Amino acid sequence: MTIHLPKTAAAKPAIGLDGVQAAETVLSHVDGERGELIIAGERVGHLAATSSFEGVTARLWSAATGTQLSEAEVRAALGEARTRAFARLPVILAASDGLSIVDGFRAGVAGLRAENGLSHDATIVGALPVIVGALVRRAKGEASLAPEPTASHAADTLRMLLGKRPTPREAKALDAYFVTVCDHGMNASTFTTRVVASTHADLFAAVTAGYCALTGPLHGGAPEPVLEMLDAIGTRERIKPWVDSALARRERLMGFGHRVYRVRDPRADVLKDAIERLELGAEGLPFAGEVEAYIRTALKQKNPDRPLDTNVEFFTAILLDALKIPRQAFTPIFATARAAGWTAHAREQQRLGRLIRPSSLYVGAMPA
Ligand code: ACO
Repeated sequence: MTIHLPKTAAAKPAIGLDGVQAAETVLSHVDGERGELIIAGERVGHLAATSSFEGVTARLWSAATGTQLSEAEVRAALGEARTRAFARLPVILAASDGLSIVDGFRAGVAGLRAENGLSHDATIVGALPVIVGALVRRAKGEASLAPEPTASHAADTLRMLLGKRPTPREAKALDAYFVTVCDHGMNASTFTTRVVASTHADLFAAVTAGYCALTGPLHGGAPEPVLEMLDAIGTRERIKPWVDSALARRERLMGFGHRVYRVRDPRADVLKDAIERLELGAEGLPFAGEVEAYIRTALKQKNPDRPLDTNVEFFTAILLDALKIPRQAFTPIFATARAAGWTAHAREQQRLGRLIRPSSLYVGAMPA
């Protein structure tokens, strides 16, 4: 995939809402100058090393609602929600026939509805791995697999996708990924979710909208093109000519650059560590490391005044590929984790926020 962007009105600070504070939040904080991400009071690296996806989700949901939830309660609710979603799969997937995994997932998310006795938050977050697992298996002509409600969310996601129980190392690697990407300040999909929630539309509408915003390659659609780029480069000898020629054509290199970070995205190193700890199937890591090093140098030369460094999507692609997750499912897997943040932000917006309704700069013709 090749992305060329026209020269835009980047010089006007409010266009694109750069630097505009759209909400107050206790959920996460991105410090672009220091390269720091804090999620509900803890640095992302610390959380990835010490907490589970269920634990971080409990922190986010507790902070958003003011009601204390434990890791065990979230784990039980997500297990129950996976089971309920599986029972309703034919209805949830009814509108996904003939669609790609990314688009079928959008139809599946839009097909969710309230479940008796379960919070909307758990219903949504629990259903997502069931939907992506079923879509991946359907694409291979295989029947979907029932969830195991007592398994961890990450381990059950891998099993429903790949048809075999993951090793503890594999489950830990996906869990670390889920923790790392579960929330990230006022990114485009979270902002979209909050805009929809600010109208007091329900969580199902808000999260469906958030997923739609995630699918673009400037946001959560980048990891599949990262692998396409690594495939296209192919060998060490081709790194320099391929990258130089892409930059000369003014292409954007996937997995690099960020609107907020002016230094390396802290999530990149957390994921790199997770890949190294996996110690299997990551034969491509040294090659990817060489590609990364050369691209960082080339971007410095091309844009000396605009720091452009590795973002989370570069190592996401390598980690999910090492776990044998098909690349067509990368964006839905990202959404499976980010939905913890989306639901928390939607709750926080509805509880404390105000209708989000900015204005535009009219540059069109005026009546005579
Ligand atoms: N490759 C090459 N050049 C780049 C890249 C890149 N990845 N990113 C920015 N640039 C260049 C721009 O072309 C521009 O150059 P110019 O002034 O010569 O035209 C300059 O850097 C400044 O770019 P901005 O417009 O300030 O960048 P912006 O903040 O709009 O973009 C974005 C951020 C969208 C992430 C961008 O870096 C990009 O397209 N990256 C590639 C896609 C990607 O990795 N997406 C995932 C992001 S992480 C996430 O959302 C989870």
